[in-house]
Amino acid sequence: MMGRVRTGVLISGRGSNMGALIEAARRADFPAEIALVLSDKPDAAGIAAARAAGVAAKALDARQFAGKPAFEAAMTGALEAAGVEVVCLAGFMRILSAAFVERWRGRILNIHPSLLPDLKGLHTHERALAEGRAEHGCTVHFVTADLDAGPILAQARVPVLPGDDADRLAGRVLVEEHRIYPQALEAAARAVRAAVNSA
Ligand code: GRF
Repeated sequence: MMGRVRTGVLISGRGSNMGALIEAARRADFPAEIALVLSDKPDAAGIAAARAAGVAAKALDARQFAGKPAFEAAMTGALEAAGVEVVCLAGFMRILSAAFVERWRGRILNIHPSLLPDLKGLHTHERALAEGRAEHGCTVHFVTADLDAGPILAQARVPVLPGDDADRLAGRVLVEEHRIYPQALEAAARAVRAAVNSA
């Protein structure tokens, strides 16, 4: 029997989705374990939160590297050293190169706060309100070289309510993010194990 799928979580900030993944992985029957949290920002709040939860966390300050290839090589090095098989982007605010994405193809997930393919990119809650949408939500998808466009693993909808501002709407979406990201990782980890076992 193979062990649980070693998972790396990439963050840039608060890390609440990272926290939801760590929490889910406490379940004995969860097929993934969080092996490493990596941040591109040394002051990300999520680093301390990961360590407090007993998870290894490391900051790789992107500004200290000569360029994107060097920074990404360092990230891949740290992930490989930790035996990571699946990568979860969780509020990681950097666009990854096609080469990095290719290295982790089919094994790299992202959570995006909109109902993709609608509202790719930033400021999704403000845009949902400005466009007068009745529904909003979040999506977990595989990462490909095209931003916010890879195959969808999970999606959840929330209503836009009268009196919503971006913060209230974001809070309603975030509850769903914390629910569907662990579910999507669970499915992806089971698929990775099934692929390894049949290879
Ligand atoms: C979330 O809304 C996520 O969908 C987006 O960035 C935010 C990260 O929040 N990609 P957190 O760091 O997980 O709390």
